[in-house]
Amino acid sequence: MGRLRHCFIIRSPHGNSRICIKAEGFLELQKYLDKHHKGGRVAVISDTNVAGIYHDRIKSALPEADIFVTEAGEKSKTMKVAEALCADLLEAGFTRKDVVVGLGGGMITDLAGFVASVYMRGVPFIAMPTTLLAMIDAAVGGKTGVNLGAKNIIGTFYPAEAVLVDQAFLKTLPEREMKTGMAEAIKYATILDASLERDLIANQPDLRPILEKSIAAKVQVCNEDLKESGLRKVLNFGHTFGHAIEYLSRYKLTHGEAISIGMVLANKIAQKLGRQSKAHGDRISEMLKKHGLPTEVPKYIKLKEVIEMVYRDKKMDGQKVTFILSLGMGQHKIVKLTPDELMKMLK
Ligand code: NAD
Ligand code: GLY
Repeated sequence: MGRLRHCFIIRSPHGNSRICIKAEGFLELQKYLDKHHKGGRVAVISDTNVAGIYHDRIKSALPEADIFVTEAGEKSKTMKVAEALCADLLEAGFTRKDVVVGLGGGMITDLAGFVASVYMRGVPFIAMPTTLLAMIDAAVGGKTGVNLGAKNIIGTFYPAEAVLVDQAFLKTLPEREMKTGMAEAIKYATILDASLERDLIANQPDLRPILEKSIAAKVQVCNEDLKESGLRKVLNFGHTFGHAIEYLSRYKLTHGEAISIGMVLANKIAQKLGRQSKAHGDRISEMLKKHGLPTEVPKYIKLKEVIEMVYRDKKMDGQKVTFILSLGMGQHKIVKLTPDELMKMLK
């Protein structure tokens, strides 16, 4: 997938989205705002955990910024919270020439990106991801959204004009959340970039190549198919079941944990279809286990409920669900299956 780089660009109808891996994220943010949005006001949207840790750093980098804080956790990714944030922006007098910065994990970058895309029909948006998952996936590629009875039912494609990735944020990230991010890196290894496997199975994985290769893989896909009419669907490997499991766990499972289980189920299907060797499936499961990720559906979730939720998924196309298989490391195949076929294969 090409040589390692620090900056990447996704082209979109909203303009270029520049994703840069840089140390000193707040300094980069300051410089970026000075260069591109001088005179504009800044609204930082964050969650209670991240704002709790980084409040002073935000204030010293951006003394004039308004900080809007939502409760941490997936339960805040709702229309109600998005509406309240829009009302707060309005009350504080934010206009179209001002900027929204999403500082947090994927919950915040999805939510703040959504708010930025709809507030006054769209205001500039900058993402500062603070979890591994958001750095390599959620903040990259412009999908924003909130949940409504299922994951991400309401949302927009609105790439951040800049995504500033500073891996120093990961120093304060709880271990469970680091593992969660690794699930998405394993996804890229499995369907797009086989060379990532070596980085992921190393005894003490070096984060830098994992960040760069994962972002590079996502950027390449988004540049080919930003709005998910074809190739981008491959990024949903493990997500068809994963989203349902995440929702049905009532968010006791993190996104990455649910996706990990979803990938194992997807492998089971690939093997039933004769498109994947058991050895390849085992290799993926080993990688997931090495990073402390779950590989089995929790007992409190019924497989039948999972399949029922799949019917409601955005990945349904008529009566069939678009489903991603991993054929070998770094190789994918898109197939369409009915929920009944899925059920039979998983029994
Ligand atoms: P999250 O944003 O909920 O963050 C996980 C936890 O870590 C939270 O408690 C948060 O407060 C805390 N946290 C974040 N950064 C921290 C830091 N640096 N130090 C200490 N604590 C920190 O979860 P996530 O896993 O980052 O993101 C999951 C969300 O991303 C889901 O809503 C998922 O649907 C979405 N997602 C979106 C895309 C996309 O393309 N838009 C892709 C993948 C996932
Ligand atoms: N996480 C899936 C996508 O960005 O398309």
